[in-house]
Amino acid sequence: MIPIHVSVMPNEILEYLKPSVDQPLIIDGTLGEGGHSLRFLQAYPQAKVIGIDADSVMARRAADRLSDWTDRFELHIGWTDEVLRDWEGPGPDVILMDLGISTYHFDGSGRGFSFKSDEPLDMRLTDTDGDDASELVNGLGESDLADLIFEFGEERFSRRIAKRIVEERRRSRIEDSATLARIVASAVPAKARHGRIHAATRTFQALRIAVNDELGRLERLLETAPGLLAPGGRLGIISFHSLEDRLVKRRFRALDRRYDGTFEVLTRKPLVPSEEEAKANPPSRSAKFRVIEKPIDGGII
Ligand SMILES: C[S@@+](CC[C@H](N)C(=O)[O-])C[C@H]1O[C@@H](n2cnc3c(N)ncnc32)[C@H](O)[C@@H]1O
Repeated sequence: MIPIHVSVMPNEILEYLKPSVDQPLIIDGTLGEGGHSLRFLQAYPQAKVIGIDADSVMARRAADRLSDWTDRFELHIGWTDEVLRDWEGPGPDVILMDLGISTYHFDGSGRGFSFKSDEPLDMRLTDTDGDDASELVNGLGESDLADLIFEFGEERFSRRIAKRIVEERRRSRIEDSATLARIVASAVPAKARHGRIHAATRTFQALRIAVNDELGRLERLLETAPGLLAPGGRLGIISFHSLEDRLVKRRFRALDRRYDGTFEVLTRKPLVPSEEEAKANPPSRSAKFRVIEKPIDGGII
């Protein structure tokens, strides 16, 4: 397997998520193509790493990449928020969440995540879960669709976009990513059509977040993961847009011992990629990395 996703902030992750014990248990809750898991396995020779991904295609790619490490690497296919909710194993020393989807999803999955390609509008990470993107685009009422695009895409032209989608779908169902991208671009003012980002970027982000319940999953994970950590354990989360970062920041603040909590927030301000990294790997540009540490005496949640 030749990885196509470039792992974000690898050095910062190794530094801030350095386990405090000799034989740590590390959970990589967003395994993807396994880039961060591989670095943990190489850097901490006695660590056991559990990699979790909802997407079985991704999980297979990672398993292939990490096939030399089966003595210390274990694969789980599932939603990490659900795996951790039901967790009965020992307390992990490290939990990493590198949120969102990977470059492979955009460029190689064929599931319509990218407005740059012409693919069926699916966007599900698992093929057994609920509505796909075409069901939302063709099935939601105009105002629900506008709300979804506004809420999850922070798209200021959400009403115009929803109106145009509803007009177009009366003629024929919208089944592919290229058609949706063209419709969205035609709905926004000319100035926005030629802006820094493609006019459909926010709409595609909104649909993907809704299809996979990304924010609901993050909220539930933030409730359970800190309590599971072993004493002295660390939870690190990399987010890629303000909706995610806001949830992480708010929850970490509630756990912060400087306020009402008992945890140490190790990143008063989120860490961001260096200029070199941002240049070399443009998708990393929006990354924000926050870390908390559970007190040695276990603290309270
Ligand atoms: C940004 S990629 C991770 C890339 C990986 N860290 C690497 O370096 O190769 C995020 C991955 O997490 C998965 N994912 C996102 N949210 C998830 C969740 N709540 N549960 C399980 N997997 C999730 C996606 O399927 C995707 O493969």
